[in-house]
Amino acid sequence: MKNPDTRVVILAAGLGTRMRSKRAKVLHRAGGMTLIEHVIAAARAVAPAESIVTVTGHQAELVEKALVNSGVRFVRQTEQKGTGHALECARSSLETSATSGDGLVMVLYGDTPLLSAATLVRLRDMQAGSHAAATLITTTLADPSGYGRVITDGDGAVSAIVEDKVCTPEQRAIRVINSGIYCFRAGPLWKHLAEIKPNNSAHEYYLTDMAAILSSHGHRVESLHIDDPAELLGINTRIELADADRILRRRKTDDLMVSGVTIERPETVSIDTQVCVGGDTIVEPFVRLLGSTAIGEDCHIGAGSILENAVLGDRVLVKPYSMIADSRVEAGAQIGPFARLRMNAEIGPDARIGNFVEVKKSRVGKSTKAQHLAYLGDAHIGDRVNIGAGTITCNYDGEKKHETSIGEGAFIGSNSTLVAPVEIGADSYVGAGSVVTDAVPGGALALGRGRQVNKEGWAAKRKKN
Ligand code: UD1
Ligand code: MG
Repeated sequence: MKNPDTRVVILAAGLGTRMRSKRAKVLHRAGGMTLIEHVIAAARAVAPAESIVTVTGHQAELVEKALVNSGVRFVRQTEQKGTGHALECARSSLETSATSGDGLVMVLYGDTPLLSAATLVRLRDMQAGSHAAATLITTTLADPSGYGRVITDGDGAVSAIVEDKVCTPEQRAIRVINSGIYCFRAGPLWKHLAEIKPNNSAHEYYLTDMAAILSSHGHRVESLHIDDPAELLGINTRIELADADRILRRRKTDDLMVSGVTIERPETVSIDTQVCVGGDTIVEPFVRLLGSTAIGEDCHIGAGSILENAVLGDRVLVKPYSMIADSRVEAGAQIGPFARLRMNAEIGPDARIGNFVEVKKSRVGKSTKAQHLAYLGDAHIGDRVNIGAGTITCNYDGEKKHETSIGEGAFIGSNSTLVAPVEIGADSYVGAGSVVTDAVPGGALALGRGRQVNKEGWAAKRKKN
């Protein structure tokens, strides 16, 4: 069967009053992505980005900016008059068959981030293969409060959806709920959408009224019942946001473990949805892997480490409590414990960056070692360099940043102060405790400190006085 022309509308114009937030609800994050990004990712399984229309309203500019790279289109709902009105706003931008004829219009809400792509494909296929005017996803909840209840007639067709606020006591006892995920045949949807009236205490146009409207015209409305309600959780409060985050992160650690990653105490680990981790890597408890982090094979990430937009080659060892942000570590390198890499730090293969070493915007060469207590900023450091404990690149003069370059094989003695801009040649030595302000030629020994003076018998003389 050829896939039918399917357009997707994602409703994301609401403020989300129950979040008690200054930020639009769909921009809150779970599993490292905004709620709406999760919904778009699932929708991509049934439609290309250009066939997905997102209805924005509250903080429209911010929502559209957050999604600018997604390729989806936007329409504005300037006044939030309800989910039915939001869909009406999108009508004119859903061209071709989906507006008039045989196409399908899938409607999703921007606040259901747990939705899987597979479920949307099932919904699309079920609607495409039936004569119903619409199919909606339902589930059964132990506590259905807050959700619209699904009323079915004798032969299982949906005759109405009743919003929680307006349920009679008998309707309130129904535990089969409307997930807010619908697939309509375009023809009947557009023909009857304008029949939704704001006949409710909130004076809103409820999209859910379409079930009763379509039935009243003799159309059948089907339901696709999903057994796992977790997928359909709508986020209305911060408590539900935390629930969604927990579920997404649990899914992520499960997926990684299935793919061959060892995760100790996975319930303590936070891994964002888009992170990649190679096989046989071990992740210790309380690790956070965030953003676009990508980790190679056979790595070991020590307890409490936080990696954000970090790229690690194979066999990298990150010892506990290290922070790596926007930086790259090549194969076989060892980082930490308590190391910090940030702002385009690049650590070469087999290099060692030890405890209390900070590396910022610097390239560290192959097999170079900075094992203890150093600051390396705006530096180019060659291969096989030894950076002694306490070495500082003085990269800032109070106004501008300056660069330090250290040639391969150089040995920087402990507690050296390298005042940038400065160049230290290959295979040179800098004596411990030096303040280096001038270039050091390759192969030279630089001593930039006061010479030691010993005064024999000085202690005894002092005591006598
Ligand atoms: C809605 C459904 C309810 C269902 C539940 C599932 C209606 C009337 N009710 O209730 O049956 O059980 O979702 O989670 O549809 N939005 C707009 N413009 C508006 C109003 C809302 O774009 O004018 C968007 C919101 O940004 C949100 C989505 O529509 O992403 C749903 O709105 P929300 O207020 O969360 O509806 P619920 O009360 O959860
Ligand atoms: Mg909701």
